[in-house]
Amino acid sequence: MRVGLLTGGGDCPGLNAVIHAVVKKGINQYGDEFIGFLEGWRGVLDNNFIHLTLGRVDGIITEGGTILRTSRTNVRKIEGGLEKCVANLKANKLDALIAIGGDDTQSVTNALIQAGVPGVGVPKTIDNDLSGTDICFGFDTAVGIATEAVDRLHTTAEAHNRVIVCEVMGRDAGWIALTAGIAGNAHVILVPEKPIDLDHVCAVLRHNHENGKKYGIVVVAEGATLPGAQQAAIGGKVDSFGHVRLSGIGQILADEIEKRTGYETRSVNLGHTQRGGTPSAFDRMLATRYGLGAIDLVHKGEFGRLVVLRGTKIESIPLAEAISTNRTLDDSFLEIISSLEPKL
Ligand code: F6P
Repeated sequence: MRVGLLTGGGDCPGLNAVIHAVVKKGINQYGDEFIGFLEGWRGVLDNNFIHLTLGRVDGIITEGGTILRTSRTNVRKIEGGLEKCVANLKANKLDALIAIGGDDTQSVTNALIQAGVPGVGVPKTIDNDLSGTDICFGFDTAVGIATEAVDRLHTTAEAHNRVIVCEVMGRDAGWIALTAGIAGNAHVILVPEKPIDLDHVCAVLRHNHENGKKYGIVVVAEGATLPGAQQAAIGGKVDSFGHVRLSGIGQILADEIEKRTGYETRSVNLGHTQRGGTPSAFDRMLATRYGLGAIDLVHKGEFGRLVVLRGTKIESIPLAEAISTNRTLDDSFLEIISSLEPKL
């Protein structure tokens, strides 16, 4: 078969591991041929691609980023964009298209499937909030980076008797904040699923201070909000899928905490550090399993589906189902946070 591949949306450690697995199994086991569209849907729109050979993918499993590069191009917002993509895919005589991306990328895959393109999706986001799959590759790496940062913030915060607020990624879901916060022994963890109670935050920090812990570590997800407020964002810019650039809740909190408690407070925003660099061994393995699952779906003719992890098994679900909702922290996860807080 002749198969097209692309990576769309924000990059994520493990994208190259998916490409590596798809191409290796496709060529070695099925005798496939591959082209890789460059920069997500923009590559399909402009018919800009490279040939993916065994030589090209050899060794890329260890690399961060994506050899196909990526973009947040939304072809549905471009007049005639979808039609042009369908025409380019046909002109390349593709038997299948594998799109690796989050819900935005997969919403385009879904539209193309409706237009008759034989497509398969592979889920991706460090935020880990795609419904339908238990864990997204990239999340483990991001959590590892965030946890290491939180570990390091403890010693400098303690040395200066400071509070440090560490802002991590997590637009609609607090998976990174929760996991890195718990693993890194943060004193306060704040997530988008629950409005921030500043009185409570300050009470925890004061309680610790009065009991000998003269410093504090707060981990906050970028999408967390103060009651009634909007998510903190840079400027008014939105991307082609309508998302604002989230950033700044860490600094807002640091200012408020210092004002209310009198403790010197600083903020650190980990930002894209969490997405860069080499994937963890766990993510290389998970991404490999997703890739193998995708090329198998193509050869079984099971189009319109998304590869997912359910428990320990790689399965697939209808793609449309997966992009309809976000997987956020439920009460049992929020309870982990409250269970480890001091009794005030
Ligand atoms: O991939 C999801 C995400 O990492 C969000 O947590 C974050 O808000 C967004 O991407 C940032 O994306 P960009 O690369 O456009 O700045």
